[in-house]
Amino acid sequence: MNGFGAADDLWLRAVTEQLGRIPHSSNLYYTEPCAKLAELLCARTGMKKVFFGNSGAEANECAIKVARKYSAEKKGPNCYTVVTLKNSFHGRTLATLSATGQDHYHELYQPLVPGFTHIAPGDMAALRAIDEKTPVAGIMIECVQGEGGVVPLQADFVKALYDYAQANDIPLIVDEVQTGNGRSGALYSYMNFGIQPDIVSTAKGLGGGLPIGACLMGDKVKDVFGPGDHGSTFGGNPAVCAGAISILTRIDDALLAGVRERSAYIFDQLTGAPGVESVSGMGLMIGIKTVKPAREVVAKCIENGVLALTAKDRVRLLPALNIPMDLLEKAVAVLKAACGE
Ligand SMILES: Cc1ncc(COP(=O)(O)O)c(C=O)c1O
Repeated sequence: MNGFGAADDLWLRAVTEQLGRIPHSSNLYYTEPCAKLAELLCARTGMKKVFFGNSGAEANECAIKVARKYSAEKKGPNCYTVVTLKNSFHGRTLATLSATGQDHYHELYQPLVPGFTHIAPGDMAALRAIDEKTPVAGIMIECVQGEGGVVPLQADFVKALYDYAQANDIPLIVDEVQTGNGRSGALYSYMNFGIQPDIVSTAKGLGGGLPIGACLMGDKVKDVFGPGDHGSTFGGNPAVCAGAISILTRIDDALLAGVRERSAYIFDQLTGAPGVESVSGMGLMIGIKTVKPAREVVAKCIENGVLALTAKDRVRLLPALNIPMDLLEKAVAVLKAACGE
């Protein structure tokens, strides 16, 4: 998930310089890198406030708490249900596991946290029916379901959800933990869908290899939390934030154009290749349905020096956003051979 590969020089320098200055401070104080990162995130997204934690799951926990508090205050204590999608993945803490719309993640951890309902992607009628019974406190989606097999949502469904959420004063949360920070070919994947969420959670690639989670809050919810409502000891750590600034400032138009170009190359090479049934995804987040079991293909790739992983029954690719074209060509050749042999 490292956007700029392993031990990227600029990131390393930013982190180590900050480690020599202030490696950590009490969360009673802001540090310069933390404030600057929040400012940059808001400037690039139009969001208004940011909470920093240490992981994607924590960013989503914050998002859920913000949505629930906003809605309980607006619509009363019965308004706590957060609607998420079947086949989604939102994390491994109990609340985010409960938000996750895949039964097999739930099996060993009953009883789950109450107040989550899952609808099928595309099923606006199900959302309306739930909302009519008890008002919905939040809607949470991944624009591309990553762990679910690298499946992008239909654009008209995303727009319909957005319109419904706006019209009914329901905070819309977009989970950009995997899709975010350039991965989809836009800074955040929702930007490919022409919507403006109320809450965005992100993590993974933003940290460049160190733990970070960020929950971005838009106009609607920016004043929901007051002092003491939420917090984290290590969230907003200055060294981690200094590294994240170095990552975020380099995700510019040129880099994003490069992501889309590399993506088009992979789609072009793999679509219709021997042993490949279909290719899905967005930007450099790609799922490949192979004739052979995905695990076998991944094992073959690893044997030949290419790290891939699986998502459900697909091979999943998440290469560095700046992977040199010659290296990408070699990797795709290894992958094609593994699929077609
Ligand atoms: C979409 C999505 N949300 C949340 C998470 C959880 O992130 P973390 O493992 O950093 O807690 C993940 C991790 O894979 C993810 O893909």
